[in-house]
Amino acid sequence: MRKVLVIHGPNLNLLGEREPQVYGTTTLEEINADLKDAAGKLGIDMKIVQSNHEGEIVETIQNARNWADVLVLNPAAYTHTSVAIRDALSSVQIPAIEVHLSNIHAREDFRHTSHVSPVATGVIQGFGKMSYLLALQAAAVLPLKKG
Ligand code: DQA
Repeated sequence: MRKVLVIHGPNLNLLGEREPQVYGTTTLEEINADLKDAAGKLGIDMKIVQSNHEGEIVETIQNARNWADVLVLNPAAYTHTSVAIRDALSSVQIPAIEVHLSNIHAREDFRHTSHVSPVATGVIQGFGKMSYLLALQAAAVLPLKKG
């Protein structure tokens, strides 16, 4: 069974109440419930974590090398700032799918740069909750770097 680790970055725990005009009213719990349903149908063994702390996300990515085949990661604001998260992804060599609820290129200039995209296998953004579900579908089939 393919093992997928979903990582939600900072402030995503507030989805539903946070800037609903940008992110919608779906809560993180609802997204996670839909991901669990989809993982069951796709035959994926999935874990989900959320963290508001950069170092904790770095450690989660490092520890994933002992378990995960694929990472699905919404680095949230750290997308635009974190060389540490990018380096962690390069270090573990686990294929990673970068996810955003919003289309970061259609927003403020400071969101147009992603430190993560150059080391990601692919990026899915702009589809709200569906961005995660599409990422999980990709995670189910993309080629793995390890056996
Ligand atoms: C986000 C986009 C980021 O720019 C922002 O900082 C977030 C959420 C998204 O999912 O659309 O927190 O990653």
